[in-house]
Amino acid sequence: MSDRRGNPLRRLRRPAWAEQRPTWKDAKPALINAALERARARPAGGWFVLAGSREVRDGAAFGRVVAGRELVVWRDADGAVHAGPGACPHLGAALCDAPVHDGQLVCRWHGLSLGPGGRPGWRTLPAHDDGVLVWVRLDEHASGAPTDVPVLGPRPPAERSLAAVATVVGRCEPDDVIANRLDPWHGAWLHPYSFAALEVLSAPTVTCTNAEDRFLVEVTFTLGGKLGVPVHAEFSCPDERTITMEIVDGEGTGTVVETHATPMRPGSDGRPRTAVIEAVVAHSDRPGFVHSRRVAAALRPLMALTARRLWRDDIAYAERRYELRSRSAR
Ligand code: FES
Ligand SMILES: [Fe+2]
Repeated sequence: MSDRRGNPLRRLRRPAWAEQRPTWKDAKPALINAALERARARPAGGWFVLAGSREVRDGAAFGRVVAGRELVVWRDADGAVHAGPGACPHLGAALCDAPVHDGQLVCRWHGLSLGPGGRPGWRTLPAHDDGVLVWVRLDEHASGAPTDVPVLGPRPPAERSLAAVATVVGRCEPDDVIANRLDPWHGAWLHPYSFAALEVLSAPTVTCTNAEDRFLVEVTFTLGGKLGVPVHAEFSCPDERTITMEIVDGEGTGTVVETHATPMRPGSDGRPRTAVIEAVVAHSDRPGFVHSRRVAAALRPLMALTARRLWRDDIAYAERRYELRSRSAR
């Protein structure tokens, strides 16, 4: 791995795409499915990621359908996040574009004010802002007992990190999104523009314990085709709808990419929709990194953009998986 103060870039030496070592023998369906089953058995305490923290701005509501329910979130005067049904209890106006005045949502149709205390026919829901993501708790969908706060995986310290959140919607179920990420072997084949020299150093066995339930991957993130940054990354699932990648060695050790799969509701084609809400929390021990927080506003869209092509291919993988599953269920 690189010396943390030296140049992290390495010249890429890699075979042509078709000459890479095929990984299909290692990517055993039974192993991936067993990892998915174990993730599914890890309760999220009823919490669902609804949005990135920055998407919920002062003075404006933010709406999203979560697990079939139209919801709205907003911030009060102290910046605390609140959540409630996304339809006004009077005549049903959508509240996702309601302005916020004095900590209350104000319905655009007839001016009804809706606050954190709720009102008859409009009950608010537990909400949580972890500084990167906004979560909402839906007790009717809790697979175990509801918990006070969401289950969080590893995160670097907030004062030395830089977060960006991006969302895409796939025509599939949350399982398909998680299963795609539980197959690290596709990395250098499906995403040669981003990854090279990918080796899965260890994978959980079908019957592993919780402590052993992680993939350790050696991979080089490529930059412009000729250069790359080699790292070791660990993948694990803190809850049933989340997979986390943590850089455990190399440049940016401590950086985390959290992929959250939030079920929405079927589209007009009858297929399910899942919001893939991905948070990149970049971290570095390099002196000076903290100053790059000053250029955070410029970096954020860039961090989201580099993920876009990856996402297109990963969503296509997840949608294909859903299609095959629904075909065989018919
Ligand atoms: S629909 Fe909201 S106040 Fe009438
Ligand atoms: Fe991928």
